[in-house]
Amino acid sequence: MQSFLFVCLGNICRSPTAKAMFDYKLSAAGIEAFTDSAGTLGYHVGRPPDPRAIHHASRWGMDISVERARQVTLADFRRFNRIYAMDQSNLDDLERLRPPNATARVELVMSLAPDYGLCEVPDPYYGGDQGFEQVLDMLETAATRLVEELKQSR
Ligand code: 4NP
Repeated sequence: MQSFLFVCLGNICRSPTAKAMFDYKLSAAGIEAFTDSAGTLGYHVGRPPDPRAIHHASRWGMDISVERARQVTLADFRRFNRIYAMDQSNLDDLERLRPPNATARVELVMSLAPDYGLCEVPDPYYGGDQGFEQVLDMLETAATRLVEELKQSR
């Protein structure tokens, strides 16, 4: 079974949303996978997602309220086949953390959808509703592409 870890800064806005969106798309396509999310920052560890992220995910039919923030660990680099960073700063942090025995592929989540026109999922934390909706729209496109890729390789 393939495994995917979604990583942002706080693990309370983008990456729990990403896990839910990819879970939804993968299961709708009948693809079994193990997924999780984590943050590079330890500040919000143990907390539920941001209420705005919960609200916007619920508008798309997804319940992320049960998620709890955790920080990326060195074991994640062996436990997951792929680690998807939301933005370049997350990717830089992951590259710095990456242990020598890492086996995971580490890349930007939007590298799945190069034609979308944005390489990074912008941090919605300090913005408004539109930022949260954009996160969902971008992740829906990326998740759809991953499903297409996995279907082709079956
Ligand atoms: P996230 O959003 O990385 O998408 O979870 C943020 C959450 C918290 C902070 C920054 C971004 N923060 O600075 O506390």
